[in-house]
Amino acid sequence: MSRLRIDKIIASQGAYSRSEVKALIKAKRVLVNGAAVSDSGFKADPETDEIVIDGKKFGYSEFVYIMLNKPKGVVSASNSPNEKTVIDLLHEDMRRSGLFPAGRLDKDTTGFVLITDDGEFAHEILSPKNHVEKTYIAVLDRPISKEKQAEFEKGVVLADGYECLPAKIKELSDDGLTVEIKLKEGKYHQIKRMAAACDSHVNELERVAMGALPLDGTLERGCCRYITPGELALIKLEK
Ligand code: URA
Repeated sequence: MSRLRIDKIIASQGAYSRSEVKALIKAKRVLVNGAAVSDSGFKADPETDEIVIDGKKFGYSEFVYIMLNKPKGVVSASNSPNEKTVIDLLHEDMRRSGLFPAGRLDKDTTGFVLITDDGEFAHEILSPKNHVEKTYIAVLDRPISKEKQAEFEKGVVLADGYECLPAKIKELSDDGLTVEIKLKEGKYHQIKRMAAACDSHVNELERVAMGALPLDGTLERGCCRYITPGELALIKLEK
């Protein structure tokens, strides 16, 4: 990897803000290959140079992966002239160039949005070929009949004739109005259109898992945190 400014390297990982990094360097608490650094513009190779902060080895990863619990009213885009985006919800210290939501939720859908700058990973988890299941909880205005539910396994045919990939549906409430739906693709308004094809309507929709990684139940709506490497591996596993 090419050599980058030490202040950028440290701040890019999210644990310290730019001003904290400045203070760390000024106080000579950052060592590169054993020598204290006193200039924020000092260049290092984050993959081969050993960076130590306050005696602890600094772990660097080229890409970041963030779990956001999306609230309603926010668009799944990197920028928008008039609307609040999922990127606007990130804590200032988490912002870095190239971040985007890996997959879109509708403005009125809540729950798990993965934000990353790793295009290859995003492609891998979004491509239907790779079978990463996204789990949703939907609240319907009327139950979907057992016959229509059986069509989920084969592939629901939407009003425009598109035949969905096989999906799963499970009733979570006795009245059949709350259901869990698992999809391996992510067409525009897919669950809403699948419900419409089954003579129902989605009142509320939340994404609660990607692969085998559930939305962190302690993460409040509108809040986000980094995904650990172990959690990242779960995304590619079946739940
Ligand atoms: N299906 C939808 O209809 N909307 C979403 O936001 C996600 C899946």
